[in-house]
Amino acid sequence: MGTEKNISGTEMNMPGTEQNISGTEMNMPGTEQGAPCSAPGYYFAPMEGFTGRIYRRVHHKYFPGIDKYFTPFLPTHLSGSLSAKERREVDPANNPGQSPVVNLPQKSEADKSDRPACFLIPQLLSKDSGQFVLTAKALADLGFGEINLNLGCPSATVVPKGRGSGMLKNPEALNRFFEEIFANLADGNAPGLKKQIFIPERPEAINESEKCGTARPHVLMSVSERPGILNEPDYADTAETQPRISVKTRLGLTDPAECRVLLDIFNRYDFKELIIHPRTREDFYKSPLHMDYFTEMYRASRNPVVFNGDIKTAADCRRILETYPDLKAVMIGRGLLINPALVREARGGKPLEKEEYRAFLKELFAAYEDEYQSEGNALSKMKDLWTFASQAFPENPAGLRSVKKAGTGSEYNMAVDKIFCSAETF
Ligand SMILES: Cc1cc2nc3c(=O)[nH]c(=O)nc-3n(C[C@H](O)[C@H](O)[C@H](O)COP(=O)(O)O)c2cc1C
Repeated sequence: MGTEKNISGTEMNMPGTEQNISGTEMNMPGTEQGAPCSAPGYYFAPMEGFTGRIYRRVHHKYFPGIDKYFTPFLPTHLSGSLSAKERREVDPANNPGQSPVVNLPQKSEADKSDRPACFLIPQLLSKDSGQFVLTAKALADLGFGEINLNLGCPSATVVPKGRGSGMLKNPEALNRFFEEIFANLADGNAPGLKKQIFIPERPEAINESEKCGTARPHVLMSVSERPGILNEPDYADTAETQPRISVKTRLGLTDPAECRVLLDIFNRYDFKELIIHPRTREDFYKSPLHMDYFTEMYRASRNPVVFNGDIKTAADCRRILETYPDLKAVMIGRGLLINPALVREARGGKPLEKEEYRAFLKELFAAYEDEYQSEGNALSKMKDLWTFASQAFPENPAGLRSVKKAGTGSEYNMAVDKIFCSAETF
């Protein structure tokens, strides 16, 4: 597929995104262009309704090379245990090739590269530290070495309940939440957990944060007590240590400057990584990214930083990684739903090919049918996906309409065949 031409050369109508990295002059001060990119990670963003276990399984089969998949958010419960559905979502048996244990380089058959294994990270949506800790321990018992906390969900059904980006409203409450989870995760109650000590992963950031006036006294944190952690790669954690916590956050609720107070708090704790989507809750997925505030956070964060937002092309990836050479990874959501081979391309591999895209979508439809035992339900999942997939066919706006109109599997297949047959750029 002529992806660069197709995707970067075209105004893509990402839902809720009016401006994108390739098309926007972004204000990224203070970093030299052209610096070599240091072996970054590529993560597939969690997307509720899209990147569940069925999608991940088929995606990983066709397009290996993602370093981490994240489950769409899993709410926590009073009992602190996972529902049957949530268990199925994370069950390693349902996630082939996506290791929960971050020290076992286990790869899919298709992945012949010498990269370490691909990991699955469960994401929790919770404002209750007790529920969070119990659920994290349950996940640790299943072998998960990293648990992600959702501080970004902007949904009107989530935020008023003080969850997702609603947790950014009250930084002191957020700090208490972290205090409680770190204290309780480190208390040694969970099987196989060890007491931990604080070792910052990016010591140079201490100086930065002190310069920016964001330094704070340390609370006792939890990282692996093994010496040499600073230099160990991502996959060096072991199931014997407590699960590490990572955070996926926005800049704030209404004002991007809220990120300064929030970073103060994030800097008090040892997170596996801090994934930043540089928008506020009010921005939803619209409006330009606040790259100036992202730059501030990148510079002053004591935790490894991952960038997330509006990456749609390999060139977007390069630009971000060159501008921010210390990024631990980039996380991509909608761009991968449009072009599932985007990470392969970003790593210098071949662009998306027409036949593999077609085969991928066909197998995905069959996998949904198999899962739901219902053509209608599978069709509805595929129609949702086509909202994104159709953006890879900008010359054919009618294609999406005919997919959406399809009432049966065979009508759907005909509509898809037509889109692929008329695609010029493949
Ligand atoms: C339909 C949809 C569902 C999403 N679900 C989640 C989710 O479950 N957890 C989460 O942290 N973010 C979720 N997000 C946000 C994405 O992970 C990501 O942060 C956002 O799309 C920006 O990245 P992108 O520009 O690469 O898509 C969702 C976004 C969309 C559009």
